Amino acid sequence: MIIAIDGPAGAGKGTLALRLAAHYGLPYLDTGLLYRAVGRLMAERGLDLDDSVAAGAVAEALDPSHIVDGDLRGREAGELASRVAVHPEVRAALIAFQRDFARRPPGAVLDGRDIGTAICPDAEVKLFVTASPEVRARRRTDELNAKGRHVDYERILEEIRERDERDAGRASAPLRQAEDAVRIDTSALDIDGVFDLARAVIDAKRG
Ligand code: DC
Repeated sequence: MIIAIDGPAGAGKGTLALRLAAHYGLPYLDTGLLYRAVGRLMAERGLDLDDSVAAGAVAEALDPSHIVDGDLRGREAGELASRVAVHPEVRAALIAFQRDFARRPPGAVLDGRDIGTAICPDAEVKLFVTASPEVRARRRTDELNAKGRHVDYERILEEIRERDERDAGRASAPLRQAEDAVRIDTSALDIDGVFDLARAVIDAKRG
């Protein structure tokens, strides 16, 4: 079984994907980490993020099975990722790894922006997990403040809006809901509520 989870930044995809992977005994791939690793390498090497040929070469040379998480999950790496993810060369270089990961038995849970539309269009289960920009910005702000990293809500909201625009506005595999995906709006739900809903959708599909 392949479970494809797409949606905008900060909607709760990662948390849901981890829980579903544990529940159904499937491996989990956070595909955002691939783009984050490419963005980070470009920055470390002083390369121009808009240089699609250089970015493609970095993605091509990446060994996805050896990505060290490090501080890749932070805001800065997310921004770098979103910038390099617009290049078709980068996306093309990362397709085979993602598809192989998904297709190996017993299947997998993948989360990202284009899993249901481009990477695994035949996935048995497609979820589109979303929430309003305001709710996502509020959660992100609270999460960072709780870690003692004081950030401004308005600034985070602005970042989220910019990222949505770039991810959904690019020509190559933009963020969008697959026609056969089930939409889960997490704005008014807690983590357990989202998990229960997703599980109900999946169990209904499997019969
Ligand atoms: O899911 P994330 O926040 O880690 O993703 C970071 C960026 O990487 C996101 O803004 C766009 C890009 N990305 C993508 O284009 N396609 C994916 N499947 C996953 C991430």
